[in-house]
Amino acid sequence: MDYFNYQDDGQLWAEDLPLAQLAEQYGTPLYVYSRATLERHWHAFDKAVGDHPHLICYAVKANSNLGVLNVLARLGSGFDIVSQGELERVLAAGGDPKKVVFSGVGKTEPEMARALELGIKCFNVESEAELDRLNKVAGELGKVAPISLRINPDVDAKTHPYISTGLKENKFGIAFDRAREVYQYANSLPHLSVHGIDCHIGSQLTELAPFIESTDRLLGLIDALGQDGISIDHLDVGGGLGVTYSDEKPPEPSDYAKALLDRLSNHQDIELVFEPGRAIAANAGVLLTQVEFLKHNEEKNFAIIDAAMNDLLRPALYQAWQDIVPVQPRQGEAKTYDLVGPVCETGDYLGKDRALVLEAGDLLAVRSSGAYGFVMSSNYNTRCRAAEVMVDGDQSHLVRQREPLASLWELEQVLPE
Ligand code: LLP
Repeated sequence: MDYFNYQDDGQLWAEDLPLAQLAEQYGTPLYVYSRATLERHWHAFDKAVGDHPHLICYAVKANSNLGVLNVLARLGSGFDIVSQGELERVLAAGGDPKKVVFSGVGKTEPEMARALELGIKCFNVESEAELDRLNKVAGELGKVAPISLRINPDVDAKTHPYISTGLKENKFGIAFDRAREVYQYANSLPHLSVHGIDCHIGSQLTELAPFIESTDRLLGLIDALGQDGISIDHLDVGGGLGVTYSDEKPPEPSDYAKALLDRLSNHQDIELVFEPGRAIAANAGVLLTQVEFLKHNEEKNFAIIDAAMNDLLRPALYQAWQDIVPVQPRQGEAKTYDLVGPVCETGDYLGKDRALVLEAGDLLAVRSSGAYGFVMSSNYNTRCRAAEVMVDGDQSHLVRQREPLASLWELEQVLPE
C-alpha cells in the first residue's frame, strides 16, 4: 500500500499534496517520494520479525537520496552498502555505521579501510581473495574485521536473468559446496572474525519458495559449521522481495518473515538480517513527467514526454513494465500510445501500448519509480538529471535540486592553446 491516490477532486495526490502542484512548483521531470510510504514499508519488515533478534538493513543502492536515507535512519534502520560512496551517504544522512553491512564483489583497500575505521557491523565477503585482502588491511590498521560469507546457494530465483544472482553461473558469492572449506580458511586468518552467513539470490522475487529453499540450505550449513567449531551469530537473507508493478502478487513481508521464523525455531539465538531495497522504496516514489507533443503515424500514436531513458532506465534495460497514469484524468476516447522520451535511441521509451486520453501539456505519473529510478539515471544526451522531492503530509521538501546545465561539464576542459 502506498500514499499516491486519486482524491475527491479527481486528481492524483502524494499524501496531502496534489502532484500537479508539485509539478508547478518544482518542474518536470520530477521524482516524488512519500515519507509515510517509506516508513510504512520499513515498519512492515520490522514488525514482521517481532521479538526475534533482527536488523533491517535497507539496500542503499535502491534509492540513495539523503532524504530517503535520513527518513530510514530516524527509524533506526541499518543499511546494506556496496561502495564507500554509499557508506559516506549513510553517514551524511545520519545513519549508524554500526548497523551497516558491506556487500559487493569488488571492495577496494581504501573502501575496506574506511569501513573498518568506522566500525561497521559486517563485511559480506564474496571470495577467498577478498578474505586475504581484508585480513591484510585490517592487520595494517590493527583491527579485526567482522565477516560473513556470501554463499551462493544455487537456487533459481525465477526472476529476470539480469537480476538473478543465486545460480552457479552468476558471479556472486562462494559456491555452496566449498563453503565449509572457505569458512575454515577465514577462521584461520588472524585479523578476521567470523560472525555471519549471507546470501542474496535475486531481486523482484514474487514467490516464497526460492527464499525458503536457500534459507534451508544456509541453515544446514550453519549446523555443519557448528560441527567444525565455527559458530554463526547472524543469518543475512539478503533482499529481493518483489513488489506489485502490474498484477504480481508478491508475498507480504509478514508471510516471508513467518516462513523464516518457522525454520529458525531451532536457532532462536541467530539474529536475522534483511537487506530489502525495492520492497521499501519502489512504491514510495513516482516519476512525474509532462507530455510535450503528441505525434501520430500510420502505425502508432506517440506521446513524447519530457522524461527519458536517462531518467528511468528500467523499461529500456529490462523491458520493465511500470504503470503510467494521468495526474488529472480527462474524459474522452482513449488511444493507444507509446510513451517515448527525447533521447536519440529507439529504446528510449517508458511505456508501450498504453491506453490513455491525452493532450499536450498533460502530466503523467510513472508509478513504482522509487527504487532503481533516480539512482540509475544518467546525463546521456547532456540531459540534467531530474529533481527529487520528499512529501511529508502536506509539506514537500526538495531533497535534490535539478542539475544546473553548466554543472554537467564542470569537471571537463578544452585542450590547451
Ligand atoms: N542485497 C544485495 C547483495 C543486492 O545485490 C541487492 C540488489 C539487494 C540486497 C536489494 O535487493 P532488492 O530488495 O531491491 O530486490 N536494477 C535492478 C535491480 C538490481 C538489484 C541488485 N541487487 C532493477 O531495476 O530491477
